[in-house]
Amino acid sequence: MLLYIHIPFCDSKCHYCSFNSYVELFSYKQKYIKALKKQLIFELEKHQPVIETVFIGGGTPSTIDPKEYESIIAIVQPYLQNKNCQITIEANPNSASDKWLWQIYNIGINRISFGVQSFDDEKLKFLGRNHSKEQAIKAIEKANQVGFEHINCDIIYDTKCDTKELLLNDIQIVSGLKVDHLSCYSLTLEEGTKFFNQKNVRVEDENMAKYLFDLLAHYGFTQYEISNFAKSDQAKSQHNLGYWEYKEYLGIGSGAVGYINKQRYYPAKDIFLYMKNPLEYELIEPISKEDERLEKLFLGLRSEVGVKLELLSSKGRERVKELEQNNKVSIQNQTIYNKEFLLADELSLYLDI
Ligand SMILES: C[S@@+](CC[C@H](N)C(=O)[O-])C[C@H]1O[C@@H](n2cnc3c(N)ncnc32)[C@H](O)[C@@H]1O
Ligand code: SF4
Repeated sequence: MLLYIHIPFCDSKCHYCSFNSYVELFSYKQKYIKALKKQLIFELEKHQPVIETVFIGGGTPSTIDPKEYESIIAIVQPYLQNKNCQITIEANPNSASDKWLWQIYNIGINRISFGVQSFDDEKLKFLGRNHSKEQAIKAIEKANQVGFEHINCDIIYDTKCDTKELLLNDIQIVSGLKVDHLSCYSLTLEEGTKFFNQKNVRVEDENMAKYLFDLLAHYGFTQYEISNFAKSDQAKSQHNLGYWEYKEYLGIGSGAVGYINKQRYYPAKDIFLYMKNPLEYELIEPISKEDERLEKLFLGLRSEVGVKLELLSSKGRERVKELEQNNKVSIQNQTIYNKEFLLADELSLYLDI
C-alpha cells in the first residue's frame, strides 16, 4: 500500500494553482498536525498495511517544522516495507531553508521534490511564484549537499512566456544541477484561480511540447509517464508508479484522497471540519469494475505501466493490432505499451469500444 500525507499550507497562492491550501491559517498548523496524526494512527491500526512508499505533498510541506515530520515518520516506521522505502517530500525553494533541508534529510526522508516551475525570473513572476531563479538553484544545491540523492523539480510549460530559448535555458540549468527527475506539467486553467478565464495565459503548442520532450531525452531524462522524466530507474517516483499501477493508497489529511477495498474516500476538504473530526469522511465513493477498467486504460496508456489486453473488448483488441502495425504501440506479455504518451487520451477513446 502507498501512503499520501497532505499539508494544506502555502506562503502565498500561485496564479494557476487550485490545490487544497491555505495562506492565512498558519496559527492552526499544530492543531492540524494533531488531527492528521489521529487519522494516520486510526487508518494504520485499522488496515495494518505494509507501506511501500510515502509521499508528503501539499500545499507546501516546507512550511512545517521538521520536528512534526519526525513524529509522523516515527508513527509510520513500523509499517514500512523495508528501510529503503522511498519517502518523498515536496518543498518550495522559498521555505526550504538550509536548516529545514538538513533536518528533513536526517529524519530519513530520502527524496525531495521542489516546485521550481522555471528558472526564468519573468516567468516566475507571471506564474505568481514567491521565489527567484537564484533561490531555486541554491535550494537544490543545498539539498544535494546535505545528502539527498534523489531530487525532483516540477516545471510548468504551455504558458505564454514559453519560447524554445527559455525552455532550453531551463533544461540546461537543471542539467547542471544534481537533479535526477523532472515533472513537466502542461499548464491547466483551474476554476477558482487567478488564471481561470484569462485569455492568452495558456498557449498550447504540440511542437513546443515535442521540442521539450526531445530536449529532455537529449539531456538524459527518460520519459516514463506523460509528465514524468527520470535519469535512471532508481530516480523514478515509486509512489506515482504505484498510482498508475492501481495500487491501494491511504490518503491522510484535509483534501487528501484514499483508495482501499474498491472504495475511494475523501477526508474533509475544509480544514476546520477536518480538525474537528479527521475520521469523518466527506465522501466514500464505490469504484465499480467498469470505473476500474477505464482508469486502468487511461493510466496505463499515459505511462510505461501499459494496459492488459484483457481489459479491451474484441473490437478494441483488433484496433490494437492495427496500432501495432503502425508502430504506435507494442505488445509484450499480453500488455499494450504506448509509444507516444502525448497521444494517450486519444488512444484511450479509440480503444474503448
Ligand atoms: C502541489 S504543488 C507542490 C509544490 C510546492 N507547493 C511548490 O509549488 O513549490 C505540485 C505541482 O503541481 C503543479 N501544478 C499545480 N497546479 C498546476 C496547474 N494548474 N497546471 C500545471 N501544473 C500545476 C506545479 O508544478 C506544482 O509544483
Ligand atoms: S503551486 Fe505549490 S506553492 Fe503554489 S499555491 Fe500551489 S501548492 Fe501552493
